Amino acid sequence: MSELIVANGTVMNRREFINLAWLISMGFLVVNLGGVTYLFSLPRFRAGEFGGQFVLGNAREVFPPPGEAPVIFPKGKFWLVRTSDNLVVAIYNVCTHLGCLYNWDNQTVRYRCPCHGSEFQLDGTYISGPAPRSLDRFVMHLVDAQGNEVASTDADGNPLPLPDDDLQVVVETGLLIRGKPRGASYLESNSQVSEEI
Ligand code: FES
Repeated sequence: MSELIVANGTVMNRREFINLAWLISMGFLVVNLGGVTYLFSLPRFRAGEFGGQFVLGNAREVFPPPGEAPVIFPKGKFWLVRTSDNLVVAIYNVCTHLGCLYNWDNQTVRYRCPCHGSEFQLDGTYISGPAPRSLDRFVMHLVDAQGNEVASTDADGNPLPLPDDDLQVVVETGLLIRGKPRGASYLESNSQVSEEI
């Protein structure tokens, strides 16, 4: 006769005890795996913090008037730009050379990096200096009052036409699009922007 074991007031033989222990450990394993899966399914960054999504408000309040100096949004580390052709873009405020923070220069009407002198147009297009490419940009969504997406940044990072100033502006700082290599331009109309300003 197999040895009897008393567990939690219940008498059982060795086989029953081993089966019970195995079931309990499997239960713990399933619960732990479920917890880990749930944690990984959560977004890594919360809305409103760098790396996450920024819901900024309507375009009229968010962007400067067409062709005027860009507006910095420090919390998201991006510039909000509206070209004279009414194209909008959110440009990452980190130089594509060695990662310095660059500034907008009203005198020369361009971004200038204080570290090694790279320069970029209003829409982030490379002008000169050691930077290997134009400025990186974040994916932007334009959303109507019903929450429907009207337009979104394309895979090349071209500035978006802004059809309506009442559209809501959402910027995804977790979705960075690398700037185009030197010599490559964005939407054709943008190539004239810096000359017009
Ligand atoms: S880091 Fe900007 S030019 Fe070198």
